[in-house]
Amino acid sequence: MDLNSISLQPIQAKTVAILGYGNQGRAQALNLRDSGVNVIVGARTGVGFDLAKKDGFNPASFESAISQSHIVMYLFPDHVIPKVYSETKHFLKKTEAVGFAHGFCYHFGWIEKLESCQYFLVGSKGAGAVLRDAFERGSGLPGVYALGKENKVLETLVQSYAKAIGLASHVLLKTTFQEETECDLFGEQVVLCGGLLELMESAFETLVQAGFNPEMAFLECCYEAKTIIELWMKYGPHGLTEKISPTAFYGGITRGKRIIDEKAKEEIKQLLREIQSGDFAKAWSEEVQTGEKLLKREKARIKNSSLEKTFQDLLQKKVKRTL
Ligand SMILES: NC(=O)c1ccc[n+]([C@@H]2O[C@H](COP(=O)([O-])OP(=O)(O)OC[C@H]3O[C@@H](n4cnc5c(N)ncnc54)[C@H](OP(=O)(O)O)[C@@H]3O)[C@@H](O)[C@H]2O)c1
Repeated sequence: MDLNSISLQPIQAKTVAILGYGNQGRAQALNLRDSGVNVIVGARTGVGFDLAKKDGFNPASFESAISQSHIVMYLFPDHVIPKVYSETKHFLKKTEAVGFAHGFCYHFGWIEKLESCQYFLVGSKGAGAVLRDAFERGSGLPGVYALGKENKVLETLVQSYAKAIGLASHVLLKTTFQEETECDLFGEQVVLCGGLLELMESAFETLVQAGFNPEMAFLECCYEAKTIIELWMKYGPHGLTEKISPTAFYGGITRGKRIIDEKAKEEIKQLLREIQSGDFAKAWSEEVQTGEKLLKREKARIKNSSLEKTFQDLLQKKVKRTL
């Protein structure tokens, strides 16, 4: 796809309702507005509503935002979308297209698909704050999009939407709801929010329990994770082998496979099976329905952990700019 050929005009001709003014809602609303798109923010009374006002929007109720718009984006946490969607779906009769930033609710059937609506997703490969920062710097982030049903007019509009929020400057991949949902969950669980964070914390704890200075442990096992990923992204897997010391390279290739051994690889495959079978979505639904007890317990544990304390201590030492 030639990204330069994507025009902003199709989306500039529409009014977009951004429902929810959190991470993605705020970034997408601001980027759309700066791209010349008419945006109406829909928010409940609360933090997001106040922030939208501060940012110069005139936030409306969900009903009012939907009824004034051609395109409606549901930008709430995935477990909140079904509730807000079911409360607002009867206002969608004249809506041209309904969009999401992640395919979870659509793919796992957590929302009812209306015959009268066209559905799409536009996902940024980065959090809302990163998307906004990149847009303000005149760059952008890689992104993906998917259509509920193939439709050329919708596709042109969705590509235009992606460009307006800053997702068509590097890579914009066409995917499906299924692929985006399963890949996204897999990446979160195995690497980004699961494997990587567990590895950093376990390595940190091992050094601290062995009597090492926690700040030394943090710099080695957490801070340097950021720098190695930056190098890897800049120079690639082979280029990195020239940028690290031979000692580090030898240690990595001979010891790393003891961490990611055959058993770990089998567990990684099992996580994919649980995502694809719907078992993960079922477990997550049960967690939501029982008051998110596990989430609350883990947040409290992390808040009181020695890793968090060390992070805060280093912030106090004014290394914030580099963390
Ligand atoms: N985190 C990211 O940047 C990121 C990256 C890629 C894709 N996504 C996807 O983007 C979508 C939005 O995620 P997000 O992280 O941007 O969500 P979020 O920041 O957690 O969304 C917060 C917004 O949802 C509102 N909200 C929460 N519960 C509500 C309820 N019960 N009723 C009405 N409004 C409610 C909040 O209102 P108040 O302000 O009043 O609390 C706030 O406006 C999801 O599909 C997610 O998977 C997110």
